[in-house]
Amino acid sequence: MDFLPDEIDRYCIEHSQDEPLLLAELNRFTHNNVLQPRMLAGHFQGRALSMLSKMIQPKIVVEIGTYTGYSALCWAEGLAKGGVVHTIEINDELESKINSFFEKSEFGEFINLHIGLALKLLRQFEAPIDIVYIDADKENYSAYYDCVFDKVRSGGYIIADNVLWSGKITNNIEKMDFETKCLYEYSLKVKADVRVENVLFPIRDGLMIARKR
Ligand SMILES: C[S@@+](CC[C@H](N)C(=O)[O-])C[C@H]1O[C@@H](n2cnc3c(N)ncnc32)[C@H](O)[C@@H]1O
Repeated sequence: MDFLPDEIDRYCIEHSQDEPLLLAELNRFTHNNVLQPRMLAGHFQGRALSMLSKMIQPKIVVEIGTYTGYSALCWAEGLAKGGVVHTIEINDELESKINSFFEKSEFGEFINLHIGLALKLLRQFEAPIDIVYIDADKENYSAYYDCVFDKVRSGGYIIADNVLWSGKITNNIEKMDFETKCLYEYSLKVKADVRVENVLFPIRDGLMIARKR
């Protein structure tokens, strides 16, 4: 869901960096060939993730939810020298599609794709992680947060997508469906956690950025 009026939305996109050619190709490919293309970050959010990465210059990014690899490629743009993006995807049918785009990218060699269940695969990563990007099954957002928290360095970030969930998040709690409730509880949890400082940015479907003190 776009929360901004169309003309403001268009203006923001038109006055942001153009979508890099390979990402535009991946965007088109995903829309033409993969189910649920709305899951892809897309031009504007992709530029926002790329900018965040360039500001933070992470050495280690762990992304939960690769889909076709669009956001992983955006995170990779800002890696510090020697840095790596680890991205986790449960759907092995996407593996060859993801790799075909990683292979075409100048950043592909800095991205490691892990196929499997995120909660299981997360155990293998060690501190210090600079950025964790949560963008997978909504019911596990809080579990992902707990699982990675101690591995994120002090001053590192846990960033979660879709925390506005098309605006359903403002519904009366009794009327919320399960996923909405999980996202609502996630935002409450982050806000109440004295170990982090946080801002919920209304970028696309809502980006919760928590910085570990
Ligand atoms: C919203 S999409 C990710 C979009 C991607 N980050 C982007 O912006 O291009 C969510 C992805 O998470 C994957 N996923 C869902 N549950 C998962 C789990 N338990 N472990 C790993 N991946 C999971 C889905 O298969 C889907 O491809």
